[in-house]
Amino acid sequence: MFTFDLQHTDPASSARAGLIQTDHGPIETPIFMPVGTAGTVKGVHQYELKNDIGAQIILGNTYHLYLRPGMEVMAKAGGLHGFNGWQGPILTDSGGYQVYSLSDRRKITEEGVTFRSHIDGSKHTFSPERSMEIQRVIGADIIMAFDECPPFPCDYKYAKDSMDLTHRWLARCCEYVDNTEGHYGHGQTLFPIVQGSTYDDLRRASAEAIASFDRAGNAIGGLSVGEPAEEMYRVTDMVCAILPKDKPRYLMGVGTPVNLLECIALGIDMFDCVLPTRNARHGMLYTAEGIINIKNAKWKDDFSPVDPDSSCPSSRFYTRGYLRHLIHSGELLGAQIASLHNLAFFLWLVGEARKHIIAGDFASWKNDMVPRLERRL
Ligand code: GUN
Repeated sequence: MFTFDLQHTDPASSARAGLIQTDHGPIETPIFMPVGTAGTVKGVHQYELKNDIGAQIILGNTYHLYLRPGMEVMAKAGGLHGFNGWQGPILTDSGGYQVYSLSDRRKITEEGVTFRSHIDGSKHTFSPERSMEIQRVIGADIIMAFDECPPFPCDYKYAKDSMDLTHRWLARCCEYVDNTEGHYGHGQTLFPIVQGSTYDDLRRASAEAIASFDRAGNAIGGLSVGEPAEEMYRVTDMVCAILPKDKPRYLMGVGTPVNLLECIALGIDMFDCVLPTRNARHGMLYTAEGIINIKNAKWKDDFSPVDPDSSCPSSRFYTRGYLRHLIHSGELLGAQIASLHNLAFFLWLVGEARKHIIAGDFASWKNDMVPRLERRL
């Protein structure tokens, strides 16, 4: 099962509130999806994700799980739900993006991508069919098309050839998914991915091509790869105007709290990013009053809560001075508290956005929030 109800649209922007239903439960949109690359959201327990911060869906990665622990273990465990114990919805990325960003000596052909593992140098090939087959074994509720994410900047010819290849690969992904079944009895929904770099005509052509496949949801890739934020907003706006309104739109790998609010205003429903967990491990904390670098000396003897207004119990329990000490000392607990805190904040932010979309005052709330989110405390 996979359905999407568009519940509210903001009168002053393109923001929307919706409800996705999957066989592993509902997802209220707009939503942020914590990234669990190797089957774990780094430093965070599944029960904390569910009970402490109300995560509704998490991500896994085909590339990482295929290399380690491998598909034999994954199949025996009953897929990723059985392996890591998270019983809510899961989305897996298709592997293409990670091959481009992590592995050495990759070679792209019409058939697929041959690459060497970043772990042991062993040689592997992913094709659209292979990526779908692996995502069937992992068993995510939402699976992503196998695409090529071109670098930024990238010349027009490369971007066009790459986009055309992504579209041909998509046809093969659809063919595979439509003629096979999931292994564990629950539904798996394929999202195609719009590419086209920062070229307007390519982005338009890609959005039209992707929309014509008429899948249950659509994604926008190839952004947040080094282009200026204004370019990302321009492309997102243009693509959202073409993608169907009655299906969820997922902006891949984005972004900062401000990026989230700006792109919600443009009509995006789903986000994922490593930023909250990666930056947490380096002591960067997001709050509704601005950004805290907890490593700064000013927090040394501040024994107020990490964030008294956080929805997360540990952010209200532990103090800034203690968290600073933990991060400075490289203590595991520091990374855990900070990661949970940032994820709680990202989930709170999209939850507030949803409330304000439903209340009809999203645009004015967003304009008030954006400058606050950019402050350095
Ligand atoms: N994650 C962030 N951007 C992308 C993209 O363009 N493609 C895929 N598959 N994953 C992504």
